[in-house]
Amino acid sequence: MSLSQTDIDLTNLPRHVAIIMDGNGRWAKKRGLPRVMGHKRGVEVARRIIIKARELGIPYLSLFAFSKENWQRPRLEVETLLKLLGEYLENELPLLMEKSIRFKALGDVEDFPEDLRDKIREVERATAAFREMTLVLALSYSGRAEILRAIRFLTKDFKDGGLKEIDLNDETFRQYLYFPELPDPDLLIRTSGEIRISNFFLYQIAYTELYFSDLLWPDFSEEEFVKALGEYQRRERRFGRVYEF
Ligand code: FPP
Repeated sequence: MSLSQTDIDLTNLPRHVAIIMDGNGRWAKKRGLPRVMGHKRGVEVARRIIIKARELGIPYLSLFAFSKENWQRPRLEVETLLKLLGEYLENELPLLMEKSIRFKALGDVEDFPEDLRDKIREVERATAAFREMTLVLALSYSGRAEILRAIRFLTKDFKDGGLKEIDLNDETFRQYLYFPELPDPDLLIRTSGEIRISNFFLYQIAYTELYFSDLLWPDFSEEEFVKALGEYQRRERRFGRVYEF
Protein backbone atom coordinates (compact mmCIF):
# COMPACT_ATOMS: atom_id res chain seq x y z
CA MET A 1 0.00 0.00 0.00
CA SER A 2 1.41 3.35 -0.81
CA LEU A 3 0.86 6.22 1.52
CA SER A 4 0.61 9.71 0.22
CA GLN A 5 0.66 13.02 1.98
CA THR A 6 -3.14 13.02 1.98
CA ASP A 7 -3.12 10.07 4.39
CA ILE A 8 -1.68 12.17 7.17
CA ASP A 9 -3.28 14.92 9.18
CA LEU A 10 -1.37 18.07 8.30
CA THR A 11 -2.80 19.82 11.34
CA ASN A 12 -1.32 17.26 13.75
CA LEU A 13 2.30 16.99 12.74
CA PRO A 14 5.14 16.49 15.20
CA ARG A 15 6.82 19.75 16.13
CA HIS A 16 10.24 18.14 16.23
CA VAL A 17 11.37 15.04 14.31
CA ALA A 18 14.81 13.56 15.03
CA ILE A 19 16.44 11.01 12.72
CA ILE A 20 19.28 8.53 13.20
CA MET A 21 20.35 7.98 9.58
CA ASP A 22 21.83 4.52 9.91
CA GLY A 23 22.90 1.95 7.32
CA ASN A 24 25.02 3.88 4.80
CA GLY A 25 27.95 1.48 5.16
CA ARG A 26 25.80 -1.63 4.73
CA TRP A 27 24.06 -0.12 1.71
CA ALA A 28 27.42 0.39 0.02
CA LYS A 29 28.74 -3.03 1.04
CA LYS A 30 25.70 -4.78 -0.44
CA ARG A 31 26.63 -3.19 -3.77
CA GLY A 32 30.37 -3.87 -3.52
CA LEU A 33 31.03 -0.13 -3.18
CA PRO A 34 33.28 1.68 -0.69
CA ARG A 35 31.45 2.75 2.49
CA VAL A 36 31.88 6.41 1.59
CA MET A 37 29.59 5.93 -1.42
CA GLY A 38 26.87 5.06 1.07
CA HIS A 39 27.47 8.32 2.89
CA LYS A 40 27.35 10.26 -0.38
CA ARG A 41 24.01 8.73 -1.18
CA GLY A 42 22.97 9.39 2.45
CA VAL A 43 23.51 13.11 2.00
CA GLU A 44 21.18 13.11 -1.03
CA VAL A 45 18.47 11.34 0.94
CA ALA A 46 18.90 13.80 3.83
CA ARG A 47 18.41 16.63 1.35
CA ARG A 48 15.13 15.16 0.13
CA ILE A 49 13.84 14.61 3.66
CA ILE A 50 14.74 18.18 4.66
CA ILE A 51 12.79 19.53 1.66
CA LYS A 52 9.83 17.29 2.50
CA ALA A 53 9.81 18.35 6.15
CA ARG A 54 9.85 22.00 5.08
CA GLU A 55 7.02 21.41 2.62
CA LEU A 56 4.91 19.74 5.31
CA GLY A 57 5.61 22.52 7.80
CA ILE A 58 7.54 20.59 10.44
CA PRO A 59 9.22 23.27 12.56
CA TYR A 60 12.26 21.31 13.81
CA LEU A 61 14.17 18.52 12.10
CA SER A 62 17.29 17.07 13.74
CA LEU A 63 19.67 14.77 11.89
CA PHE A 64 22.39 12.77 13.64
CA ALA A 65 25.15 13.43 11.10
CA PHE A 66 28.31 12.78 13.15
CA SER A 67 28.57 11.35 16.64
CA LYS A 68 31.38 11.76 19.16
CA GLU A 69 31.96 8.03 18.69
CA ASN A 70 32.36 8.47 14.90
CA TRP A 71 35.81 9.99 15.48
CA GLN A 72 36.98 6.42 16.16
CA ARG A 73 36.19 5.25 12.60
CA PRO A 74 39.07 4.65 10.15
CA ARG A 75 40.86 7.90 9.30
CA LEU A 76 39.85 7.81 5.64
CA GLU A 77 36.18 7.46 6.54
CA VAL A 78 36.35 10.32 9.08
CA GLU A 79 38.11 12.51 6.51
CA THR A 80 35.49 11.71 3.89
CA LEU A 81 32.63 12.42 6.28
CA LEU A 82 34.19 15.80 7.12
CA LYS A 83 34.70 16.53 3.44
CA LEU A 84 31.08 15.63 2.68
CA LEU A 85 29.91 17.81 5.50
CA GLY A 86 31.96 20.76 4.22
CA GLU A 87 30.57 20.26 0.71
CA TYR A 88 27.08 19.92 2.09
CA LEU A 89 27.32 23.23 3.92
CA GLU A 90 28.67 24.98 0.82
CA ASN A 91 26.18 23.46 -1.60
CA GLU A 92 23.09 23.74 0.57
CA LEU A 93 23.33 27.30 1.79
CA PRO A 94 21.34 28.58 -1.24
CA LEU A 95 18.62 25.97 -0.61
CA LEU A 96 18.40 26.90 3.08
CA MET A 97 18.14 30.58 2.14
CA GLU A 98 15.55 29.94 -0.57
CA LYS A 99 13.39 27.84 1.74
CA SER A 100 13.90 30.01 4.84
CA ILE A 101 15.45 27.23 6.89
CA ARG A 102 17.53 28.13 9.93
CA PHE A 103 20.60 25.94 10.37
CA LYS A 104 21.95 25.01 13.80
CA ALA A 105 24.83 22.72 14.67
CA LEU A 106 24.40 20.72 17.87
CA GLY A 107 27.46 19.32 19.58
CA ASP A 108 31.11 20.04 20.23
CA VAL A 109 31.76 21.99 17.04
CA GLU A 110 35.21 22.94 18.39
CA ASP A 111 36.26 19.31 17.71
CA PHE A 112 36.25 20.04 13.95
CA PRO A 113 39.08 21.55 11.89
CA GLU A 114 38.99 25.32 11.68
CA ASP A 115 37.84 25.57 8.06
CA LEU A 116 34.83 23.38 8.79
CA ARG A 117 34.05 25.28 11.99
CA ASP A 118 34.08 28.48 9.97
CA LYS A 119 31.67 27.04 7.41
CA ILE A 120 29.32 25.87 10.16
CA ARG A 121 29.34 29.31 11.79
CA GLU A 122 28.86 31.01 8.42
CA VAL A 123 25.76 28.97 7.57
CA GLU A 124 24.39 29.46 11.09
CA ARG A 125 24.89 33.21 10.80
CA ALA A 126 23.43 33.47 7.30
CA THR A 127 20.24 31.62 8.27
CA ALA A 128 19.87 32.83 11.88
CA ALA A 129 16.82 35.01 11.25
CA PHE A 130 14.62 32.27 9.78
CA ARG A 131 11.95 30.86 12.08
CA GLU A 132 9.70 28.75 9.83
CA MET A 133 11.89 25.69 10.18
CA THR A 134 15.09 24.85 12.00
CA LEU A 135 17.41 22.17 10.67
CA VAL A 136 19.58 20.84 13.46
CA LEU A 137 22.65 18.83 12.47
CA ALA A 138 24.09 16.89 15.37
CA LEU A 139 27.85 17.21 14.84
CA SER A 140 30.35 15.64 17.19
CA TYR A 141 27.33 15.06 19.38
CA SER A 142 26.68 12.54 22.12
CA GLY A 143 23.78 12.64 24.56
CA ARG A 144 25.96 11.69 27.52
CA ALA A 145 28.56 14.32 26.62
CA GLU A 146 25.77 16.90 26.45
CA ILE A 147 24.50 15.98 29.93
CA LEU A 148 27.99 15.95 31.45
CA ARG A 149 28.82 19.28 29.83
CA ALA A 150 25.60 20.71 31.27
CA ILE A 151 26.56 19.43 34.74
CA ARG A 152 30.01 20.99 34.44
CA PHE A 153 28.54 24.43 33.65
CA LEU A 154 25.86 24.01 36.26
CA THR A 155 28.38 23.10 38.98
CA LYS A 156 30.34 26.20 38.12
CA ASP A 157 27.19 28.33 38.52
CA PHE A 158 26.51 26.72 41.91
CA LYS A 159 29.99 27.59 43.06
CA ASP A 160 29.74 31.15 41.76
CA GLY A 161 26.34 31.55 43.41
CA GLY A 162 24.52 32.08 40.09
CA LEU A 163 22.31 29.04 40.69
CA LYS A 164 20.73 27.86 43.94
CA GLU A 165 20.01 24.20 44.66
CA ILE A 166 16.33 24.97 45.18
CA ASP A 167 16.10 26.49 41.70
CA LEU A 168 17.38 23.40 39.92
CA ASN A 169 14.57 21.79 37.97
CA ASP A 170 13.88 20.52 34.46
CA GLU A 171 13.48 24.02 33.09
CA THR A 172 16.70 25.39 34.59
CA PHE A 173 18.66 22.26 33.65
CA ARG A 174 17.68 22.68 30.00
CA GLN A 175 19.33 26.08 29.95
CA TYR A 176 22.66 24.25 30.14
CA LEU A 177 22.02 22.00 27.11
CA TYR A 178 23.54 22.85 23.71
CA PHE A 179 20.34 24.37 22.32
CA PRO A 180 17.97 25.24 25.16
CA GLU A 181 15.09 26.43 22.99
CA LEU A 182 14.93 23.15 21.02
CA PRO A 183 11.70 21.38 21.93
CA ASP A 184 11.95 17.68 22.83
CA PRO A 185 11.60 15.42 19.80
CA ASP A 186 8.01 14.19 19.37
CA LEU A 187 9.18 11.49 16.99
CA LEU A 188 12.54 9.75 16.65
CA ILE A 189 13.14 7.72 13.49
CA ARG A 190 15.99 5.24 13.15
CA THR A 191 16.69 3.37 9.94
CA SER A 192 18.55 0.13 9.15
CA GLY A 193 16.70 -2.20 11.52
CA GLU A 194 18.81 -1.39 14.58
CA ILE A 195 16.62 -0.93 17.64
CA ARG A 196 18.67 1.41 19.81
CA ILE A 197 19.21 5.07 20.62
CA SER A 198 23.02 5.17 20.30
CA ASN A 199 23.54 8.21 22.48
CA PHE A 200 21.22 10.60 20.60
CA PHE A 201 19.16 13.10 22.65
CA LEU A 202 19.24 11.15 25.92
CA TYR A 203 17.75 13.84 28.15
CA GLN A 204 15.19 14.97 25.58
CA ILE A 205 13.59 11.67 24.53
CA ALA A 206 11.80 10.84 27.79
CA TYR A 207 8.39 10.86 26.05
CA THR A 208 9.41 10.70 22.41
CA GLU A 209 7.63 8.24 20.12
CA LEU A 210 10.17 5.85 18.58
CA TYR A 211 9.90 4.59 15.00
CA PHE A 212 12.24 1.99 13.57
CA SER A 213 12.49 1.30 9.84
CA ASP A 214 14.24 -1.72 8.35
CA LEU A 215 15.33 0.32 5.34
CA LEU A 216 18.96 1.37 5.10
CA TRP A 217 19.23 5.17 5.13
CA PRO A 218 20.17 5.49 1.42
CA ASP A 219 16.93 3.60 0.61
CA PHE A 220 14.78 5.82 2.84
CA SER A 221 12.45 8.13 0.94
CA GLU A 222 9.92 10.93 1.31
CA GLU A 223 7.18 8.32 1.17
CA GLU A 224 8.72 6.37 4.06
CA PHE A 225 9.03 9.61 5.99
CA VAL A 226 5.33 10.31 5.50
CA LYS A 227 4.61 6.71 6.57
CA ALA A 228 6.49 7.30 9.84
CA LEU A 229 4.47 10.50 10.40
CA GLY A 230 1.25 8.56 9.82
CA GLU A 231 2.29 5.93 12.37
CA TYR A 232 3.14 8.71 14.84
CA GLN A 233 -0.34 10.13 14.41
CA ARG A 234 -1.91 6.80 15.26
CA ARG A 235 -0.06 6.58 18.57
CA GLU A 236 -1.73 7.73 21.76
CA ARG A 237 0.64 9.96 23.68
CA ARG A 238 -0.05 9.90 27.39
CA PHE A 239 3.09 11.39 28.96
CA GLY A 240 2.63 9.09 31.96
CA ARG A 241 -0.95 10.19 32.52
CA VAL A 242 -4.29 8.41 32.14
CA TYR A 243 -6.95 9.96 29.94
CA GLU A 244 -9.79 7.46 30.24
CA PHE A 245 -11.00 5.21 33.00
C1 FPP B 1 25.39 5.80 9.58
O1 FPP B 1 25.77 4.92 8.59
C2 FPP B 1 25.50 7.20 9.24
C3 FPP B 1 26.48 8.04 9.70
C4 FPP B 1 27.72 7.68 10.39
C5 FPP B 1 26.28 9.45 9.52
C6 FPP B 1 26.58 9.88 8.15
C7 FPP B 1 25.43 10.60 7.63
C8 FPP B 1 25.42 11.09 6.42
C9 FPP B 1 26.53 10.97 5.46
C10 FPP B 1 24.33 11.90 6.02
C11 FPP B 1 24.79 13.27 6.39
C12 FPP B 1 23.79 14.22 6.14
C13 FPP B 1 24.03 15.51 6.05
C14 FPP B 1 22.85 16.37 5.88
C15 FPP B 1 25.37 16.11 6.07
P1 FPP B 1 26.82 3.82 9.00
O2 FPP B 1 28.10 4.15 8.37
O3 FPP B 1 26.87 3.70 10.50
O4 FPP B 1 26.18 2.56 8.37
P2 FPP B 1 26.42 1.06 8.81
O5 FPP B 1 25.83 0.91 10.18
O6 FPP B 1 25.71 0.29 7.76
O7 FPP B 1 27.92 0.83 8.80
